[in-house]
Amino acid sequence: MIIVPTPETLEEALGILRKGGLIGLPTETVYGLAADANQDLAVATIFEKKKRPTFNPLIIHGPSSEAFTEHVEWNEIAEVLAQAFWPGPLTLVLPRRSSSPISLLASAGLDSLAVRVPNHPIALALLEGFGKLLAAPSANPSGKVSPTQANHVEEDFPDLFILEGGDTIVGLESTIVDLTSNIPCLLRPGGISQEEIESIIGSLGLPSQDSIKAPGMMKSHYAPILPLRLNATCPLEGEAYLAFGPTTCEGKYVLNLSHKGDLAEAAAHLFKMLRLLDQLEVQGIAVAPIPYQGLGMALNDRLQRAAVPRGLSEKEQATQSLMLPSITNNFAKDYGSPQLQ
Ligand code: TXA
Ligand code: MG
Repeated sequence: MIIVPTPETLEEALGILRKGGLIGLPTETVYGLAADANQDLAVATIFEKKKRPTFNPLIIHGPSSEAFTEHVEWNEIAEVLAQAFWPGPLTLVLPRRSSSPISLLASAGLDSLAVRVPNHPIALALLEGFGKLLAAPSANPSGKVSPTQANHVEEDFPDLFILEGGDTIVGLESTIVDLTSNIPCLLRPGGISQEEIESIIGSLGLPSQDSIKAPGMMKSHYAPILPLRLNATCPLEGEAYLAFGPTTCEGKYVLNLSHKGDLAEAAAHLFKMLRLLDQLEVQGIAVAPIPYQGLGMALNDRLQRAAVPRGLSEKEQATQSLMLPSITNNFAKDYGSPQLQ
């Protein structure tokens, strides 16, 4: 259920977390499925609810960089990046202190921890009130499109206590930078562009091919049920179209990530629009080319993962099991009419 945040309901949320329960937590990137990072059972419940492979570790959220001191070995680059981008959509992977009480399951047994300070008033209020760290992956079943609205979370987890935080402003998950070796490495492009980070700390390395450094970065991910066709300048018959920038393409179902071709606006719209198009009676979704620069890197990363083919039987299964509200109602609620650009 979706809960309007008030001092009373925030207290209720804290009570659920203290007892080892889960809540839906708004952040500036995507909604999270949050639990007390110290409680093994609470963390195990996250994996179970998301059907997430247990080798895929979680991001640990705190209200400030000081909150991580007893958990990770801090360093100079971490300090510079935290000063520049926290609170915000940047996750830092640092060596884990052996004395940290964070559940080993949360970091999947690795000797590192991924930490971040989210930039959302409700998340920050809750973290400050909780006084401990929260483990929170994106609040979607593993492999599916991440939620950018409270009702996206409710569709998959109807019984969850979800704090209403509005549409997420960034719309893409955080950028992950690994600081466990001499050269900082980009593990996942995200809400802060590589260029912005490099303007402060110089060139980022790429993780070596043979080690899966961010184990969650599997090839097929963020996947809608319908097939995606990328770099499409116009839709084919029977396809919905996700446009970017000015377009003359006409079709029954056309949405535009950003009419003015703004990458930040496109990022904020991507997951919501994919979800809406995915509910239409069409054969596939064609997606316009997105420039490979700034936030375009993260947009293209998510689109490529979403485009990895999946079996048709999955669509049949999913349409039967998902409790989705009526297609046209949902589309019309957000966009006024099912036929628009
Ligand atoms: O914006 C975000 O980061 C959102 C919000 C809720 O904070 N969270 C999110 O979490 O995207 P999730 O679980 O969907 O993705 C976490 C990613 C995974 O790719 C995981 O493998 C990686 O972080 N990760 C977590 N701990 C790690 C570690 N110790 N070393 C390397 N990668 C790690
Ligand atoms: Mg995720």
